[in-house]
Amino acid sequence: MADIKTIDDENFAGKRVLVRVDLNAPVDGEGNVTDDTRIRAALPTINKLIGDGARVILTSHRGRPAGEGFEEPFSLGPIARRLQELLGRDIVLSRALVGPDAQEVVDALEDGDVLLLENIRFDKREKKNDPEFARALADLADAYVNDAFGTAHRAHASTAGVAAYLPSYAGYLMEKEVATLTGMLDEPRRPFVAILGGSKVSDKIKVIDALLDKADTLIIGGGMCFTFLLAQGKAVGASLKEEDWVERAAAMIEKARERGVTLLLPTDVVAADAFSNDARTAIVSVDEIPADMMGLDIGPETAAAYAQAIGEAASVFWNGPMGVFEMPSFEAGTRTVAEAVAANEAADTIIGGGDSVAAVNKFDLADAMTFISTGGGASMELVQGEALPGVEALR
Ligand code: 3PG
Repeated sequence: MADIKTIDDENFAGKRVLVRVDLNAPVDGEGNVTDDTRIRAALPTINKLIGDGARVILTSHRGRPAGEGFEEPFSLGPIARRLQELLGRDIVLSRALVGPDAQEVVDALEDGDVLLLENIRFDKREKKNDPEFARALADLADAYVNDAFGTAHRAHASTAGVAAYLPSYAGYLMEKEVATLTGMLDEPRRPFVAILGGSKVSDKIKVIDALLDKADTLIIGGGMCFTFLLAQGKAVGASLKEEDWVERAAAMIEKARERGVTLLLPTDVVAADAFSNDARTAIVSVDEIPADMMGLDIGPETAAAYAQAIGEAASVFWNGPMGVFEMPSFEAGTRTVAEAVAANEAADTIIGGGDSVAAVNKFDLADAMTFISTGGGASMELVQGEALPGVEALR
C-alpha cells in the first residue's frame, strides 16, 4: 500500500469527496439492520472527512438488485437510518445516483454534511464498470476515497472505474484490511495455523493451495472435508461431496506432505439422517459413516484435536465454519474452534470474513479476536494472491 495515497495525506476541507463504502449489511423483514459491523467499520473514514469539513458523498451497494432502477427490498434506507444513529447526525439519502438531480443534492451540501446515494447497483452500468457511468459519478466530486474492502474484489464503476477521473485515496478500513491480511501472509508469527471450512472444495481450492505455501498447520472442516475424506479412500455416506474434486483434494494432501505442513482432517463426525436440526444423529468415526447418513459437523474427538493445534499457534487465520452451525444440533464443532481461537490470547487471530464472522458473533467471541475482516470474497482473493481491482485502481 506504500504507493497508494491514504486519506491522512490530505485535508479535504470544503471538498466534495465521493467515498465508496461497503454497507452491504443484513436487514430483517422489519427493516432493521441485524448486524451493523460493516457500517461501524466505515465510521472512522467518514468521521475523518467530516472532521476535515469535507462534503461527504457516500456510495454503496446492497445485495444484488436487477440493475433496472429502484427496488425497495434493496434500498439503502434501513442502512441510512442505522448510519444516522451511529454518526449522531442527519444524512441525506438521494434516489438519483448521477446526473443533474444528483448534482442538485450535492450542490446543497455544506461543509461537514453527509449524503448517501441509493444502492449504486440500481444502475446496471455499475457492475459493467461502464466508463461513462464512472465519469458521471466522478463529476459529482473533487476527490475519491475507496474504503469498501468488502467489495474490493469487484471491478465496478464505483469501486475501480471512477478512480481514473479523480485524485484517489484509500480509506482507513481499506488500509487496515490490506495491511493486516498481507502482513499475516508475508510474515506470520509461527506456528501459523490456518483453519478452513465451508461447503465446497471447489470454492476454496486456490485458498487451500496458497495457505499450504504459508501455514505450518492447515485444519480442514465443513462440508468440504468429505471430498478430502474421499481422497483418503473413505466412504462418506450421504455427506456433501464433489466427486470431480477428489483428485485435486488428493493433490493437496500430497502437497502438504511434501512441504511438511501438518494437514488436519476429521477423525470423527456428527452424522445425521436428514438435513434438519431434528434429525436422528450419531457420532461416528470417519471410517464408519453409515451409507444413509450425512456428516453435518466435525465430531468431538476432531474438535478437541483442532482446539489443541489452535492453542499452540502464534498466529491463526480462520475462514469457514466446521459444520452447519446455524442449527444448534450441528454447532458444537464450530463453537469449539471459535472458543479455542478466542482463548489463545497470545496469538494473532484473524477471522477472514463471511460465515466465520457470523459464527464468532453468534458465540459472542468477536471481542476476543485480533482482527475480523469485513470482506468474505475479498479476503479470500487476497489470501490466494490475487490483485484486488479496488486496490489496484488506487495506484
Ligand atoms: C459481500 O457481501 O461479499 C460484498 O458486499 C460483495 O458483494 P457481492 O458478492 O454481491 O459483490
